[in-house]
Amino acid sequence: MRPLRFHIHTYGCQMNERDSEIAADLLRQHGHQPAADEQSADLVIVNTCSVRGKAEDKAVGKLRLLLAARRRRPRLLVGVIGCMVQRQGRALIENLPGLNFAIAPQHLARLPAAVAAARLPAGPRLEIGPAAGPPLDLLQAPLPRQPALPGPPAAFINILYGCDRHCAYCIVPSVRGPEYSRPPADIAAEARQLLAAGVREITLLGQSVMRYGSQPSFHYGRAASPGGFTEPLPRLLEALAGLPGLARLRFTSGHPSGCTRELARAMAKLPPVCEHLHLPMQSGSDRILRLMRRGYTADGYRRAAQRLRTAVPGLALTTDIIVGFPSETPEDFAATLALMEDIGFDNAFIFKYSPRPGTPAADMPDDVPAAEKLRRNHALIEAQNRRTIAINQSLIGTAVEVLAEGPSRRNAARWAGRTRTNKIALFEPPPGTAPGDLVQVQVERATPQALYGRAGLRHF
Ligand code: 5AD
Ligand code: SF4
Repeated sequence: MRPLRFHIHTYGCQMNERDSEIAADLLRQHGHQPAADEQSADLVIVNTCSVRGKAEDKAVGKLRLLLAARRRRPRLLVGVIGCMVQRQGRALIENLPGLNFAIAPQHLARLPAAVAAARLPAGPRLEIGPAAGPPLDLLQAPLPRQPALPGPPAAFINILYGCDRHCAYCIVPSVRGPEYSRPPADIAAEARQLLAAGVREITLLGQSVMRYGSQPSFHYGRAASPGGFTEPLPRLLEALAGLPGLARLRFTSGHPSGCTRELARAMAKLPPVCEHLHLPMQSGSDRILRLMRRGYTADGYRRAAQRLRTAVPGLALTTDIIVGFPSETPEDFAATLALMEDIGFDNAFIFKYSPRPGTPAADMPDDVPAAEKLRRNHALIEAQNRRTIAINQSLIGTAVEVLAEGPSRRNAARWAGRTRTNKIALFEPPPGTAPGDLVQVQVERATPQALYGRAGLRHF
């Protein structure tokens, strides 16, 4: 059959971004090619997120537009992958007549077969797990990572699939399944492939990444290690930090209970491990944290942050916060604002609570009025903006190390990259700058979104 030109549209988290890369690799292995843009594609895939109602609405809106475009492009194939497929199953297909296939995250390896089937005159193909579990298909046939060169110098590696934490508001455990830690040898092999292709920065991904290695693991049906457990995150960081060519190592997302002395020591002593951690706080009220089943108090969060900051000078912390969780009072909200100000985050993502069917919190009345959620949302965003600008402006006049990624989208004369603290930096590149170079940027100007400056090359 004629190869297809495909385009993938991604919503949601970094895990989804990585899944979209896997989907693209699978399609390429089957002879299909990425399209120059969505308009020229024969196959458009929407990778969906279920974390909030709004994320689902956006994906459905996008899918409806694509299905409507069939009037002009009758041969267009439209498929959906990602968390919404696991959550909604058949209802999703019924709601979107004309969809060619729907594949849940655990069955992504079946994408090429679903695409082939979609080209035959048959009904839509639905691939969902009976119960969400580890992505067995992909584990049985791990994909070689051969990033196209020159590719982006920063890459993701999945180390922990699923989530066993069961926070009261969260859909992830039911869509991504129970935790499964990949064997360290597989992770190291994948890292070596990336580094050989010129990657300089690796981010290790897991929903609650510090739980890496804390559950019995298996490898193609056998245990990854004699006790059936893989090693904990600090050991994995040690094993990866020495790989030749690796300039930077990150891991995300964190949880206060994983911020142990051992992790702090590993972060402090391993040079590639960056001075940044995304550590979702969610709330600063002990009562709400208990209802959320987060497993820590405001003080516990503060101590975790302190432990890491003491060990890692200059550590940048970013966070996620939910406003308007069921029964959240003005006092609870004030406690969240106070903890946020007390910690002094480099950046924060603020979300309005959205009930997710089937989660424990969905049984609690969603009793904070929408207008009040919006007010609390704005108040936190404003407070955070003030903080972010203050922190970013304090860097004016200093030099920061930036991993050069390439020309910025808005202005090709200017290059974009990230600091070790994960801030976006836009800079005038010295002649001969290539993606993957580590450059020293002299910061001249700062906004809440980025640092601006001039770069001198630093050979590394
Ligand atoms: N409503 C609002 N925000 C949520 N998040 C997760 N579930 C919900 C929900 N039901 C937020 C959390 C999480 C981030 C990825 O999304 O803050 O850390
Ligand atoms: Fe969204 Fe969570 Fe799925 Fe990521 S894992 S795409 S955040 S629902």
